[in-house]
Amino acid sequence: MTGKSDKTMISQYTTLTGVEEDQRLDVQNSVLGHFDRDVYDKVFKKKNCPAILDVGCGTGNMMQKMLEGIASYKLIGVDKVERQIHIAEKTHTSGRFLILDVEKEDFASLIRPVMEEESIGGFDVINCSMVVLHMQNPVGALSRLRTLLAPNGTLVVRDIDDGLQYAWPDPERRFEKLFKMLEKDVRTGDRHCGRKIYSYLTNAGFQNIQLNKIGLASTSLKNKMLLFDMAIPTFLHYYEQRHLDAPDNIQWKEDFEWFRDNIVAMKDSFGKEDFVFSAGFMNYTAE
Ligand SMILES: C[S@@+](CC[C@H](N)C(=O)[O-])C[C@H]1O[C@@H](n2cnc3c(N)ncnc32)[C@H](O)[C@@H]1O
Repeated sequence: MTGKSDKTMISQYTTLTGVEEDQRLDVQNSVLGHFDRDVYDKVFKKKNCPAILDVGCGTGNMMQKMLEGIASYKLIGVDKVERQIHIAEKTHTSGRFLILDVEKEDFASLIRPVMEEESIGGFDVINCSMVVLHMQNPVGALSRLRTLLAPNGTLVVRDIDDGLQYAWPDPERRFEKLFKMLEKDVRTGDRHCGRKIYSYLTNAGFQNIQLNKIGLASTSLKNKMLLFDMAIPTFLHYYEQRHLDAPDNIQWKEDFEWFRDNIVAMKDSFGKEDFVFSAGFMNYTAE
């Protein structure tokens, strides 16, 4: 672990961005390929050359992975963080990427001219993967997105609910402590967002809301260390960073030192045959 500060990391605790987060999301997306790929395949294949809006697209890697095997599509990716859009533009040639905040009132009026340029009347698929948890007003943003859907278009929301997260056996209660630490950390968003999404979608006026998938356990992965890599080491980096940025904060110092001193034991747990780790992913679709 290094103490190097990534200046692109947002300090106001709404979401984390930076090289480490990009890497964590790439691992997460390779894990989630096992979780809800069939849902994405189904919505992409409903129409030839679907028009897709990827909200909170980050580096664009999540959507590119999901689109593998889809012959033609029109893709617009939006993210409120400039750095993410610059990486997406450099990395992916098939798509248009824009710096836009879906929580801003004028979001729809800013994206409509781009839709016109691309001859998109409405989106066949709107994707929100791990974004709603970071929103201040999810119903407002989702209502705005509903107006951009094509007739028969589908919104896909993938998110997290740590109420479904557990690790067992956990005799020293290390994972229990870690989950409590993460829950208190507002930088990681609303960790109980998943259970609220049905209500958000209903209140935003969506119909035909389906909860397609819920929870992903290490027991269904060939390589369960992927869940460790996704869930643990990057967070140690964040706790170190937070401590180095405010060395006088005793709680943050204690959190970091506890994490540093226990990470190896947590990794060892993942190596044990009878150990199970369950992550609280959820996947919804709505029209
Ligand atoms: C956890 S990352 C998920 C990235 C990608 N969707 C994935 O699943 O790998 C959340 C992304 O949403 C973006 N984001 C958060 N709130 C947003 C908003 N209001 N408008 C646009 N993008 C937003 C963040 O900048 C970040 O890139």
